[in-house]
Amino acid sequence: MSIDLSVVVLAAGMGTRMKSALPKVMHKVAGKPMVNHVIDTAAHLNATKTMVVVGPDMPKLIETVAPHPTFEQTDRLGTAHAVLAAKEGLQGLTGNVLVLYADSPLFTSATLERLVKAREENDYAVAVLGFRPEDPTGYGRLVTDGKTGDLTAIVEEKECNDAQRQINFCNSGVMCFRAEDMIATLEAIDNANAKGEYYLTDAVEVALKKGHRCAAVEVDEAETLGVNSRTQLAVAEAIIQGRLREQAMVYGATLIDPASVFFSADTKLGRDVIVEPNVVFGPGVVVGDNAVIKAFSHLESCVVGEGADIGPYARLRPGAEIGAGARVGNFVEIKKAVVEDGAKVNHLSYIGDARVGAKANIGAGTITCNYDGYRKQHTDIGVGAFIGSNSALVAPVEIGDGAIVGAGSTITGKVEADALTLTRAERVEKAGWAAKFREKMRALTGKK
Ligand code: UD1
Ligand code: CA
Repeated sequence: MSIDLSVVVLAAGMGTRMKSALPKVMHKVAGKPMVNHVIDTAAHLNATKTMVVVGPDMPKLIETVAPHPTFEQTDRLGTAHAVLAAKEGLQGLTGNVLVLYADSPLFTSATLERLVKAREENDYAVAVLGFRPEDPTGYGRLVTDGKTGDLTAIVEEKECNDAQRQINFCNSGVMCFRAEDMIATLEAIDNANAKGEYYLTDAVEVALKKGHRCAAVEVDEAETLGVNSRTQLAVAEAIIQGRLREQAMVYGATLIDPASVFFSADTKLGRDVIVEPNVVFGPGVVVGDNAVIKAFSHLESCVVGEGADIGPYARLRPGAEIGAGARVGNFVEIKKAVVEDGAKVNHLSYIGDARVGAKANIGAGTITCNYDGYRKQHTDIGVGAFIGSNSALVAPVEIGDGAIVGAGSTITGKVEADALTLTRAERVEKAGWAAKFREKMRALTGKK
């Protein structure tokens, strides 16, 4: 695709209705801040430059969108004023400039591409994405020419006459400008209107006066949702989850109950992966071909190798790397640890800051004691080692290749390859003691 495209993302609003200490557009959908959804959608169109307009005192937002340049809109004087905050970045651009709202994360790159192409088709000065909601209240109305279909005006609700108020073709907010005369157009906009704001939508009127043409392109209402509240955030989440589930299946994963699987925007599943019901994928998960993720597992920032078998009820925390054909079973937590190919950690274990060698077997209830209250220390378990159930491996500790640790041991230091090691209190057995004890207690208490 060879479109010449730059992008301005408006993210200056604090979003008071979110009732949050966080700028609205930093709230996450599918594990990713809304503003980054918008930036990434533009990136799919190979945008060469993406600029973000932020409000005063939003250092975290600036960090979130880095390395993209940001521009501060100090006073909130309207959408045209907001775009002009990035004037320095707009200078000298060619081709297309898309203006996107950071609180509207559902537009697809296919839709944005359609808008850009439509603008280029007749070298329109401005092209706008319009939609037809059941209730147009609150939106700018799109007035089109009956003959040419050209866009002739965008009239904000507060400026509408009665006839215009009846129009149900509305401005979604997404606008594409011809870069070369964009600054001149925006600078010609005034604030002589009901709200006393510089309306970006007045760009259409300015362009027409100069003899340029404008266009409107229709988009499905479902893509236009803007998030102003936690309720709308949840609606956006549900829509994006629906898309991610569909995408996972299209790419060749089986989701037994798609509605109960939650993805992050960056989840990568291989082919013939099977995901059972009630699985959560946090950010940064990559799953290899033929792996099975069984019910009620929770994964984040981890890699699952080909054909590995995870869960049910497994927890893979950041830095877990599970090798090909390895098994991580029920109630097992793995953090910052490599479980090499074919190794098994089947039941009730905590493996943190560790390496589990290929084909090693970690018995039920094994714990790597990785933390002494001050430091995290490493556990190294060799290839083919066998750790007996309910062992505590006190890090730093090293179990050699092929070594066996007897069940119930607490191990420190180093175990040589192929050795057996165990720590066990001496066993005591007193013949008949239990029976005598019961006899005595029955006599004493009268209970059977
Ligand atoms: C805007 C459009 C309207 C459209 C609607 C779609 C204008 C004048 N109107 O109206 O035609 O139907 O969106 O939702 O553009 N913002 C700033 N700085 C400002 C003002 C706004 O960054 O000074 C940002 C807001 O944070 C928001 C976006 O721009 O993300 C839209 O602003 P908002 O005030 O919600 O515009 P609307 O009145 O809804
Ligand atoms: Ca709005």
